[in-house]
This record gives sequence, C-alpha cells and structure tokens, in this order.
Amino acid sequence: MATLKEKRTCGQRCRDFGHFVWNSDEGTFMGRTPEKWVYISLYYVAFYVVMTALFSLAIYVLMYTLSPYEPDYQDRLQSPGVMVWPDTYNDEVLEITYNMSDKHSWMKMSKCLHKFLKPYNDTIQAQCNHYNCTVGKYFFQHQYDAPKHTKWACPFYQSMLGKCSGIVDPTFGYTTNQPCVIIKMNRIINFLPNNGTGMAPYVNCTVLKGHENVRGHVYYPLNGTLDLSYFPYYGKLAQPTYVNPLVAVKFDLVNKRRATIQCRVMANNIAYENFYDHYEGKVTFDLNALS
Ligand SMILES: *[C@@H]1O[C@H](CO)[C@@H](O)[C@H](O)[C@H]1NC(C)=O
Ligand SMILES: *[C@@H]1O[C@H](CO)[C@@H](O)[C@H](O)[C@H]1NC(C)=O
Ligand SMILES: *[C@@H]1O[C@H](CO)[C@@H](O)[C@H](O)[C@H]1NC(C)=O
Ligand SMILES: *[C@@H]1O[C@H](CO)[C@@H](O)[C@H](O)[C@H]1NC(C)=O
Ligand SMILES: *[C@@H]1O[C@H](CO)[C@@H](O)[C@H](O)[C@H]1NC(C)=O
Ligand SMILES: *[C@@H]1O[C@H](CO)[C@@H](O)[C@H](O)[C@H]1NC(C)=O
Repeated sequence: MATLKEKRTCGQRCRDFGHFVWNSDEGTFMGRTPEKWVYISLYYVAFYVVMTALFSLAIYVLMYTLSPYEPDYQDRLQSPGVMVWPDTYNDEVLEITYNMSDKHSWMKMSKCLHKFLKPYNDTIQAQCNHYNCTVGKYFFQHQYDAPKHTKWACPFYQSMLGKCSGIVDPTFGYTTNQPCVIIKMNRIINFLPNNGTGMAPYVNCTVLKGHENVRGHVYYPLNGTLDLSYFPYYGKLAQPTYVNPLVAVKFDLVNKRRATIQCRVMANNIAYENFYDHYEGKVTFDLNALS
C-alpha cells in the first residue's frame, strides 16, 4: 500500500528551514557544526593557496626559460626581404622617376637618401660601433662582451658607398643621367647567408626591360658584397647599435633613360621566387630620368 504523502503547511516548511539554518538541538549551522565549518573553510583556503602557487610556478618557469634576447617562435620569414631607396612608390609599383633639370625633383630624391643614410654617418658609426671587425668572416659572439650586457656590431660607414655616399656628390647623381639607388636586405635573427659556407652574399642587378637604355652600372662597395662580418644578427636587445650593411648601385642611363631593373641578393639560402612575396630576396623597380 502506498503511504499518503504528508501534506505540510507553509508555516511548517518555514520552521523546518529555520531548523536547518540553526539547529539548536544539535548545535549545527546549515547542517554542520561551527567546528566543521571552520575545517571546511581551512580546507578551501589551503586548496586555493596551493592552486595559486602551482599556477605562479608554471608562469615563472615559462618566463624564466623565455629569453628576451631572441624570439622563441620564428616560423615566418626565414628568407630576408630586399628593399630599395629612394622608396618612391606609385600605385604599388616601385617607380624612381625624377627630372634632372627640375631642382624640386632631384632634391626630393637626394633628401630621401641623405635621411636614410643618417645612421651611417662616419662620425656616428665611429662612435657607437668602434669594434675592429674581421672582414670576410662571420662575426659569431657567444657571450655578451660589449658594454651593458650587449654584443658588438660592426660599423658600416657612409663613405664605403663611394660615389653613392652623398659625400663627394650630395645629389647622388640625380642631377644627371647617373642616379644611385641603395639596396638593403632586411634583418633576420641568427640568419647566416650561404648557410655557413663562408661565402659573402652580393647584390646582382639585372635589366628586365629597356636594355638599350642602360649602358652599365657600378656597385659600392666593390662587387656589391654584403660582408660576412655583419652576420649573424643577434636581435635589437643584444645588438642595439647594429646597422644593416648596404649596397649602392649607380646606373648609367642613355637613350630614353628608362628601364626596369631587378636587384637580387645572391646566396644559396635566400629564396627569390616566392609568388606571394615580391620582395623576398629581390626588388624590382622602374628607373626613369626625365629632363
Ligand atoms: C623637367 O623640368 C624642366 C624644368 O623644370 C621642365 O621644363 C620640363 O618640362 C620637365 N620635364 C618633364 C618631362 O616633366
Ligand atoms: C656626419 O655628422 C657630422 C657631425 O654631426 C657632420 O659634421 C657631417 O657633415 C656628417 N656627414 C655627412 C656626410 O652627412
Ligand atoms: C681597433 O684597432 C685600432 C687600431 O688598430 C685600435 O687603436 C683600437 O683600440 C682597436 N679597437 C678595439 C675595440 O679593439
Ligand atoms: C645548411 O647546413 C646544414 C648543416 O651544415 C645542412 O643540414 C642544411 O641542409 C644546409 N641547408 C642548405 C639549404 O644548404
Ligand atoms: C646576375 O644575374 C644574371 C641574371 O640572372 C646572371 O646571368 C649573372 O650571371 C649574375 N651575375 C652574377 C655575378 O652572379
Ligand atoms: C670582386 O670580384 C673580383 C672578380 O670576381 C675578385 O677578383 C675580387 O677579389 C672581388 N673583390 C672583392 C673586394 O670582393
């Protein structure tokens, strides 16, 4: 036989609840004695303290193993990009167009190059990069021997760009049909051009369009070499005074004085055929001298 469920009034329920909150017979509060409540609270305090400690320890260990001197994840950009100055863009095409008889036009070009070369000023370089680097050798530094826990960086003097240094000819040839452009390869931490074989990378410029308008070109420094002593690069924090080595190219334009040029940095581990990145390993630009 089923027992009939006892019907309870609201008042009874309230009394039951009150009884639950504070049971004076057994001296319990919410079903537990105050003593038990203290134990439970202590348990939870200890539990959270331990959890917090574990979490902090994990973060600490992670931060400790991360070096601020180099990125831990370098999954992109294993091959350096190449850029050209003066950096005058026109509808996404690099177009170095100037009018050699218009002062405003050639001034714009030479100002751009002077500004770009500011950090390479011989006086500044002699001050902040006074280490005697060995030309033709990778400059490996396993320790932080330079002041303030840094590494040395090799100087690159503006004067090494010869006729394109802006020192002999402050117009960089933009008042004539022999303009200079400056090629720079982007930095990649720990990148060794030619994969440690000891051969220096160099810039090779070729005429893609308008062969008849280019009589020749000259590289500064000689052979367009990017000396090995500028590699590897150890990062901004390790080498705060590092400057990228540069190569300047002076073109001799004739006839229509208009050509499309491609300059590539040649090394066995520099890619240049990336369909999605036109600046990887090479740079293409139009050169156009008006009069
Ligand atoms: C170049 O500049 C000169 C002098 O300002 C001007 O006479 C000439 O038309 C300019 N040439 C072009 C193609 O704009
Ligand atoms: C380099 O800097 C020095 C001192 O600031 C200055 O006198 C000199 O003209 C600069 N050289 C060039 C080529 O700008
Ligand atoms: C570099 O060489 C010059 C002359 O050979 C010397 O006076 C200078 O102390 C050297 N500097 C360093 C950092 O070794
Ligand atoms: C670079 O050198 C390393 C070791 O010397 C070798 O394992 C690797 O295959 C080389 N990579 C290229 C692209 O030559
Ligand atoms: C420069 O590039 C051109 C075209 O790719 C090539 O024919 C020439 O041999 C290269 N020159 C050097 C010195 O690598
Ligand atoms: C430039 O190249 C020529 C011919 O390949 C070579 O004899 C000369 O030593 C090179 N000069 C420099 C400074 O690399």
